[in-house]
Amino acid sequence: MADTNTSAGPQEEEKTPVNDVNGTPQSGNAIGALTKQVQESLSLAQRHKFWETQPVGQFKDLGDSSLPEGPIEAPTPLYEVKQEPYNLPNLYEWVTCDMESKDTCAEVYKLLANNYVEDDENMFRFNYSMEFLQWALRPPGYFKSWHIGVRVKTSRKLVAFITGIPARIRVRNEVIQMAEINFLCVHKKLRSKRLAPVMIKEVTRRVHLENIWQAAYTAGVVLPTPITTCQYWHRSLNPKKLIDVGFSRLGARMTMSRTIKLYKLPETTLTPGFRKMELRDVPAVTRLLKNFLNQFVVAPEFDDNDVDHWLVPRDNVVDSFLVEDPETHEITDFCSFYTLPSSILGNQNYSTLKAAYSYYNVSTKTPLLQLMNDALIAAKQKDFDVFNALDLMENGTILKELKFGPGDGQLHYYLYNYRIKQALMPSELGLVLL
Ligand SMILES: CC(C)(COP(=O)(O)OP(=O)(O)OC[C@H]1O[C@@H](n2cnc3c(N)ncnc32)[C@H](O)[C@@H]1OP(=O)(O)O)[C@@H](O)C(=O)NCCC(=O)NCCS
Repeated sequence: MADTNTSAGPQEEEKTPVNDVNGTPQSGNAIGALTKQVQESLSLAQRHKFWETQPVGQFKDLGDSSLPEGPIEAPTPLYEVKQEPYNLPNLYEWVTCDMESKDTCAEVYKLLANNYVEDDENMFRFNYSMEFLQWALRPPGYFKSWHIGVRVKTSRKLVAFITGIPARIRVRNEVIQMAEINFLCVHKKLRSKRLAPVMIKEVTRRVHLENIWQAAYTAGVVLPTPITTCQYWHRSLNPKKLIDVGFSRLGARMTMSRTIKLYKLPETTLTPGFRKMELRDVPAVTRLLKNFLNQFVVAPEFDDNDVDHWLVPRDNVVDSFLVEDPETHEITDFCSFYTLPSSILGNQNYSTLKAAYSYYNVSTKTPLLQLMNDALIAAKQKDFDVFNALDLMENGTILKELKFGPGDGQLHYYLYNYRIKQALMPSELGLVLL
């Protein structure tokens, strides 16, 4: 059974680099916080010079129920799609990054490791590994041309990056071929020069050239307009290190030894039949996952090939476990997390925070609380410092009891060229982007 002796999580909010570049209100109520952000946005007219020109839900249309749900603009004939890339400032040029090449991958790794998302206080920065990037960017049917870099012409230095990958995503009853856009990054020295809108327009053009007209993306910043807003929660696995590096703080009236005891987990997983997923499990996992994801308003449509790519375990990239009934050998439950370390900036003793991020979890027989407790134990066995989860899908029902505490970062989800009448609750969302 799950360790349920107390529901106390950390009292203080914890920090994580969750794309939260601008900082966001710390309200526990995501809808309330979002409303406030929307109002602030509305009071500053012309705040989104770029996004106001794009086919996305606009703030001024919020609550206008006369607007139909679905694509905002119809597809244009392919011959009408602009054939040449957008113009860049003279010193720079577009490159397609070959993520099969180790050298290119290392360049991308370096750009992101030095310039990608940091937390509000610049204490941590995402440190996606090369293996992770190769996994994240080369799913079945991926397009090389959607891995876009910008180089300085003279030095060849890579200074900006944006990517898309293809995905089938269901919105209510419609399954839509989309691009998932990720890893938008502009070198720190080139910020605030309106390069990001050019990157976004160029990836959009290349997506259109494949006859795809919708996209999904996430950001820590509020843009026009989120389909939902999720919050990150953190479960300490190595509380001493987390406190030492400033990721979390000692709670009021807590000592270090009491804190260590509070977060202690059993040495081994508790559910009989809990084991690592293997290649032979793909069909059973696909079935479980398809059934489970059906209940959400927005969710990916996974087939065996997708499950093979996204969920079969890969060392230091993705971990997946399932419960096989010891008697019937039926696969009844599934859980997974991915590995995304953060660099710890300017700490004498530690350079890396090893974080696991909850991915897809399906409970049919083992209660979700117990399943996730085993996921925590498995992550602890693998020496992760912290286990992070968003409050989407059914996660909201178990986070507090498993001693997760709310973080200070929010993650907004967006669709490009697809209007949703009303924002969703995080529990209506079945999509995790990396
Ligand atoms: C995100 C980043 C590329 C933006 O570049 P920038 O130099 O700060 O901004 P630019 O002057 O080029 O462009 C500003 C426009 O981009 C938009 N923008 C900023 N961040 C964005 C994001 N994450 N997604 C989409 N659009 C974004 C802004 O809203 C603005 O458009 P608007 O006027 O319509 O509001 C850059 O800050 C960066 O690399 N940050 C670290 C990594 C990161 O946060 N990546 C995004 C992860 S979701």
